[in-house]
Amino acid sequence: MEEIRFDGKVAVVTGAGGGLGKAYALLLASRGAQVVVNDLGGSFDGEGSDATPAQQVVDEIKETSGEAIANYDSVAEWESAQKIIQTAVDSFGRIDILINNAGILRDKSLLKMEMDDYRKIMGVHLDGTFFCTKAAFAFMKDQTYGRIVSTASAAGLYGNFGQVNYGAAKMGIVGMMNSVAQEGTRYNIKANTIVPTAGTRLTFTVMPEDVIGKVKPEYVAPFVAWLCSEKCEETAKMFSAGGGYFSRAAVVEGPGVVFDTRKEITIEMIVEKLEQIMNLEGAREYASAMEQAGTVLSKMAPE
Ligand code: NAI
Repeated sequence: MEEIRFDGKVAVVTGAGGGLGKAYALLLASRGAQVVVNDLGGSFDGEGSDATPAQQVVDEIKETSGEAIANYDSVAEWESAQKIIQTAVDSFGRIDILINNAGILRDKSLLKMEMDDYRKIMGVHLDGTFFCTKAAFAFMKDQTYGRIVSTASAAGLYGNFGQVNYGAAKMGIVGMMNSVAQEGTRYNIKANTIVPTAGTRLTFTVMPEDVIGKVKPEYVAPFVAWLCSEKCEETAKMFSAGGGYFSRAAVVEGPGVVFDTRKEITIEMIVEKLEQIMNLEGAREYASAMEQAGTVLSKMAPE
């Protein structure tokens, strides 16, 4: 197979000073991409800032004759997110690839969660993804080319104790990308979501030490790089990747039941048909909300 390369392509990787983002940046640069290595460099829970992590990754890329520039702005404000994207355009003339990867954790059970824990998580993950995507989309639209990969989490898809804030933000990103993908269709802009598993500073509190070393960010990076490539025709998809495992995840809807709306629909009728309503055999994915609405209406009994 022909090597997949990124010559002439410009990538922005947010939160690329360590963990998964660093692995993405190194791989893209090694295949010819010019990379903006963004990282605010704060603590895992979002305090402080430090230019060192992003600069170190840039130095590492340059040591192997790759092209990269560091950016230390936060994704969590509209003005600073615009500067991240502008760095790509000012330094390399365009932006083809955006990996929304920056992230923090503020885990607490719901009743112990302070408003600040909630807002900071929303700010970095959900707002940050929105701001960077909006800023990059404008350039990608003009170029009629773009690849956007955003980062969700199993905590969003399936829930996790102590991560009400994080889970909400991560599932919000899935919804955001589903709609971005639709708006990107006619401009050859693909938007997908990765659900990673990797041993990083974000997972060291929840993963045993011996497991951390085994699930390297480098195992996720090839998949994300493929999503960033010209070869990728997929859009509005979610993929799980970690420890050598790769899979597609999806939101599906079961065949359900249809009651005749010419008669009263009672609570008891719902209870009686619950098993059928719960059944996911024959479930399907929808390409858009419009397609789902069309199906709902087509199932209605005639007037
Ligand atoms: P990490 O902590 O190594 O990397 C996150 C990076 O984002 C850090 O370098 C941090 O400085 C940077 N960052 C934080 N706030 C920022 C801001 N406002 N602006 C710019 N940069 C900022 O952690 P990891 O695991 O590599 O996380 C990467 C992404 O993957 C995150 O979105 C995380 O939520 C997600 N994720 C990771 C999983 C894992 O198993 N490691 C599981 C599910 C999701």
